Formats: sequence, structure tokens, C-alpha cells
Amino acid sequence: MNGRDLVRSMKAVGSAGAAQRLRTVRAAWRTRRADAAGLPARGAERARVPGPVQDVESGPGGGVIRFSRSELRITVAVNGAVFWGWDGAGPEPSYALAGRSPEPDPRAVLEPDKDGGWRVVAERATVVVSRHGAVEVQTPGGVTLRRDLPPRWWEPVDGGAGRWMQRSEVSADARFFGLGGRASGPRLRDGTYRLWNTDPGRAFGPGDDPLYLTMPVQLVVADAATHLVFHDTTWDGTVTLREGEEGAGSGHDRPGSSELRMSGGPLRCWVTVGTPARVLLAWASLTGAPALPPAWALGYQHARWGFGSEQEVRRIVTGYQERDLPLDAVHLDIDHYDEHQVFTVDHDRFPKLPRLSADLRRDGVRLVSIVDPAVRAEPGNAVFDAGTAVDAFVRDGAGQLVRGEVWSGESVFPDFTHARVRKWWGGLYEERLGQGFAGFWHDMNEPTSFAAFGESTLPRSARHALEGRGGDHREAHNVYALCMARAAYEGLRELAPQERPFVFSRSGWAGLQRYGGAWSGDVATGWPGLRASLSLVMGLGLCGVPYSGPDVGGFDGSPSPELYLRWFQLGAYLPLFRTHASLRAGRREPWEFGPAVLEHARVALAERRRLLPYFMTLAHLARRTGTPYVRPLWWGIPEDRALRDCEDAFLLGDCLLVAPVLDPGADRRAVQLPRGRWYDTATGRAYDGPGQILVDAPLSRIPVLARAGAVLPVRGEDGGLELEVWAPARGRIGGGLVVPDAGDGWDEPEIERYVARWQGRRVVVEREGEDGVSAPPHPVRVRGVEER
Ligand code: GLC
Repeated sequence: MNGRDLVRSMKAVGSAGAAQRLRTVRAAWRTRRADAAGLPARGAERARVPGPVQDVESGPGGGVIRFSRSELRITVAVNGAVFWGWDGAGPEPSYALAGRSPEPDPRAVLEPDKDGGWRVVAERATVVVSRHGAVEVQTPGGVTLRRDLPPRWWEPVDGGAGRWMQRSEVSADARFFGLGGRASGPRLRDGTYRLWNTDPGRAFGPGDDPLYLTMPVQLVVADAATHLVFHDTTWDGTVTLREGEEGAGSGHDRPGSSELRMSGGPLRCWVTVGTPARVLLAWASLTGAPALPPAWALGYQHARWGFGSEQEVRRIVTGYQERDLPLDAVHLDIDHYDEHQVFTVDHDRFPKLPRLSADLRRDGVRLVSIVDPAVRAEPGNAVFDAGTAVDAFVRDGAGQLVRGEVWSGESVFPDFTHARVRKWWGGLYEERLGQGFAGFWHDMNEPTSFAAFGESTLPRSARHALEGRGGDHREAHNVYALCMARAAYEGLRELAPQERPFVFSRSGWAGLQRYGGAWSGDVATGWPGLRASLSLVMGLGLCGVPYSGPDVGGFDGSPSPELYLRWFQLGAYLPLFRTHASLRAGRREPWEFGPAVLEHARVALAERRRLLPYFMTLAHLARRTGTPYVRPLWWGIPEDRALRDCEDAFLLGDCLLVAPVLDPGADRRAVQLPRGRWYDTATGRAYDGPGQILVDAPLSRIPVLARAGAVLPVRGEDGGLELEVWAPARGRIGGGLVVPDAGDGWDEPEIERYVARWQGRRVVVEREGEDGVSAPPHPVRVRGVEER
């Protein structure tokens, strides 16, 4: 009896729990055994620092500085980003970069600095290198933003990959953000954050770290400027952050610090400096423009693990229709697969899937399919056989297939770091398109293999192609999901060239936005989980992944009606608005929580639908500028320290400030306003920032404020585009950008620019074009005039 038969028979006699335990223990044991055999034991190590400077060599955009025991290459790129790499590391090869590394900026040159050091002066930053290899990033005005102490390496005496440590200091007032999707942010307080994509194995809350999607990307906001630093190394590591403290009165400032410890890989980084918008623009130009979701993916989506049958899917969709609740997509989880095997359908329970998807599509509802990477290791399983034929699966050092345990039972894992494997995998989506699926939800792609102890992933010794360079899972792990997303995106572009692919993923790495978005994974049902889900969306946005969202209502258990409603109301303003829950969790349909919740959820759904043109505009702007839809309040005013510390509200684009209710029992809440005038969109009342206000937050809604002067594209009652304009403060001019929907293909709509100004006692809105201003081609509704 093989392992799979054993599991089956145990299930048959009703001991599924025991079977699962047995499988996970076996998997963990295999992992440890594989690593013990496949990885060299860590022997004696030798420590190294760069030593004193010896000589320099100028090159395009900077040059190379040679120290006695290392060398540092610095290049300023034409997009203003600065690269430096130690020990001869250059920017390529890189999984994060969208293409080739940008050209060097010929204006940046290496020049001698004081005390035997060197510097490179660029337009937006100056990099100063000390005689012993400390690297300082300064503003053009000479204020230090970041000071890297000379790095340290520890190398095995017998050769092999060395580990390293980079300690950096930032100013006392600086705040840290980013590092991918973190549950305890968005402001990253003192602590150690791991860089290793991890399925926590249970529903997570703010205390859980790391999670599924980590990135060595830090956004540091300080009075002098904002900077982003990206250490382009895919290996396992940790970042220990400590915020600084400003000396009160006569005391000294204590700088903030970041200590990055990496278990291997090159020591190289990119730094971009400027305003938050500039920094994210440069980041997107390095790592790629965010993919534009199709319009329907900006609507409301309902997922469920355990629909169980076509009838149940139809029943839920009818539930929405009968109650006149907008619904744009339904997501099918692994229970629609045949024995949990990806790219198959359980024909007993889903006998006519293409018919179901066609019927739903007629009613404006798309079907989205979960896609897990693991393939059941069983000859006769078509995906396994096809993958075997192209040698697609990860092997160990002895050439044996690496096996793990996932939903699909004993499984193997495609090596997405191989172009041939990506091509094969991308082609498999043809089967999904044939079933009528319009979008793809990547899961379990950290990758996860269940384990009772140790790590729930592949053995570190597992071999990967790494684009022909060859290496092991220590290097490939963090980019596994990124490469899977690439496979899907590129495959779908070939299979359905007229449509923009819709892919979103649980795991990923720097650059994921090129292929799609993310979702927050199995967030725990509870008020802390609600807060964590906002932290994840904001953190990912600041790392360049603008499209994401949580499981509304939480993944496990049953939310109280109040918690469900508050989550729903928050979700209505996040890019991915999706209810989802576990097999064993309570229901998540809006009508399951009583008539009051249903009515309030209806309002949230209607508002989401009304705001769709605004979401579409934000998606286009994210693609063109890298700016996330959901932004921290300090986005436009990073020097406002009160905003820097404010984590419970966000800006949705330029126009709206959303203040979700994150605590039980609240019917009003404090909101920290950025400067300028803001209107409570429910009451029309105007408030002048900066400062803190108290606003009503009855169960029927969460506070949403509109910026005075905002021009907001919304869906009018007839379904057409309408401009909602919020009166500028007297004597001020407002305006905004609108990008109209151009369908789900590749047409590039033109950006419409509007200005709003007072003319006598009226607010007039005009479109600005190359030939001057004209009347807007859409109906205009001015708000905030009579209501004050
Ligand atoms: C994972 C996913 C979850 C999904 C489940 C079953 O836990 O995070 O969203 O429902 O697997 O596929």
C-alpha cells in the first residue's frame, strides 16, 4: 500500500484527522532528512569587513570603489534610483527588475570626498562612501537619510554561500513601512521581521510574522525626505527595526536603526529618494507597472471554500439577485476540483461548469478559479503525466522528485524558475478558460507543504533551475509565487490575447504587481484581524502591489453581525472587495446576519458600484505612476508627523479619506485630518484640517470624507459616467483626473483632466485639453455648496 492508499483507507474508516497527522509528520520528516543530506553542514566561518579603501575606478553613473577585502559598485540610473552592490554584485540577474536594469545616468560621477572617502552626486540624492565602506544617502541639500555601516560577511572556511549583515541608521523621526504584507503595520514598530514567505498554518492575527508575502523593501518616511530601499536578495533573512527617538529638550537624538541579516545571496540594493509619489514612481519603473485588473475585478466578489455543487453556486448567486445586491464574481475553491487536483473538475458535483459560467456571465457575474501549484504525484493523473513529460517538477540533489503533502495528497511542485516549466504551466490555463473561468486565484504558493514541525515548505536543499543558473530552495523559495504568477500571466496573454488577465496571489515578491495582485490569506475572524487586513493592504501598496484585499468577515469561525458589517464596509473601499471563508466557518452572505446588516451591506455595495469609475481611474493611475489606490494619510504630506503615526484611516486616491470602524461598539470615531478642507460625504459638513475631528460612525456607514475641490468620477443612475465635484474652499481651485473605462482589452484610454473653481456664487467645472478648456462631456453634480 503506498502512502496515498494508506491515507485513503484511513479516511474511509473515518480517521481523517489521524491520516492528516500521519501525512504531515511524514512530510516534515522527509524535509529534515533531505536537508541533512542535501545541504553542507555549517562549519567554521571567517568574518570579513570591507577594510580600508584602496583605489577607485569611475564608470558610467558612478564607478567602483575598491577596499582591501571587497569592492563596491555604485550606479545612478536614469530614473534617479541609485544602485550599489558589494563584492562585484551588479543589478542583474534579478527577479524583481521588470526588464534590464535601467541605463546609468551619465551626469552622475564619482568624486573624492573628505577624509579619504568618495561620493556620487545625483539629481535627487548624494551617496557618500567613507574610507571604510560606510555608505550614506543624503538629500541634495546634504541631510542624511540613511547611513549604512560597513557590511559584515561570514563565510564558510571551506567555501560556499556566505551570510551577511547590514546595519543602517535613519533619522530619529523616521518611520518604517513595507517589508511586504505584514499584519502588525502599517507602521513597523520595533521588532524582528522575517523575510521568508510563510503559511502560518492557521488563521493569523496582528501578532503573526512572517506571513505569505514578504519583501526586502523598506519605505522610510522622515522629515527630510522619503526613501525606499530594496535589498535585491531572495534568500531567507531578518530585518530588525528600531524606531529612533528625538531627544526632548537638551537630550540627544537616538537614530532609528535597521539591521538586515541575510543567510546568503548578493549584498546589493536600490535606493530611491523623494516624495512618496516620486519614490513609488521610480520603484514601478524598476520593477514594472502594476497590471490593470479588468473592470469587473474592481466590483464585489464572493468566494467560499465548500460551495460543494453547482446548485449551491446558483443558489448563492440567486440570493444576491433576489435581494437586488450587486455581485460581480464568484470564486470556486479547491472543492470543485476532482480529488483536489488542480486543472480538473469534479464532474459529479460540477457536471456542467461551462454552462454555469455562461449563465452567470449573462447576468454579469464572472467565475474565478483557485489554482494551487502542487500536483498529485500519481501516474495517470494527467497533470502529473504531462509535467513529468516536460521534466517540470522540482527534484532533489540526487535527482529524485521532491514530494510534499498538500490538499492534493502526496504531491510534486513545478519549478517555476524554469522558462520551459512556466510555459507548460501557463498553457494549462486553457482548460480553465474552457470551463469559463475569467480570473485566477493563486494559493498555497509559498509554496506550502503541510508539516507538523519544522517548516511547511519544500526542503531547502531542493534544486531549482533559477533561469539556468541552478541553485536550491534557499534562493528560489521567496520567488516561487512570483514566478508562478508570471507563468499564469504570460500563458493567459497567449491564450486570450484580447483580454487583460486577472490573477491574484497569496504569496509573491518584489515585482508581483506586473502580473497581478494579492490577497491577505487566512486572516483570523476577530477585531484584531480586521485591523490586520488594513495593515496588509497598505503595506503591500507601499511595496508596489496596489491591488489587494482581505477575506471580508475573516477566514475562520463566525463573525458577529457587527464585525461582519464593519469588515464589509471597509472592504467596500479596498481594491479587492471579496468575502471568503473556510470550509468549516460560518456563512458570509450579507443576508445571513439579520435585516439591519443586510440593509447596511446593501448601502456599501451600492456605494462600491457607484465608485467603480473612480476605482478604474485609480487602477489606471496606479499602472502609470505606481501610486497605490489605498494610501496612508501622510501620502501627500509626509512631513506631518501626526499623520505618519495614524494607522486607522487611509486615503482612497486623492479624493477620499476613509475612516473605517475597527473597534466594537463604536458609533463615532476620531479622524486625523490632513491639511485642507474636507467634507463628511454623508452629512456634507465641512471640516478644516490639519487636526483631529470626531465624526459620526453609525452602524449604517463608516465615515468617508471628500477633499474640497475633488472631481470624482462616479456611476450615475443611468449607469453612465458622472462627475461628483466637491466645492473647493473659497479662493481655491480644485480638480482631478479621470480615466474612463475602455473595456477589458488593451485600449489605452486618454486621461481627462478637470479643474473646479468658483465663479461668483457657483462652482464651475471645466475639462482641460491641449486646445484650452471645454465643458465636461459628462454630467456634473456639485456638492458641498449648499450643505455647509
Ligand atoms: C488556503 C487559502 C484559503 C483557501 C483554502 C482552501 O487556506 O488561504 O483561501 O480557501 O486554502 O483552498
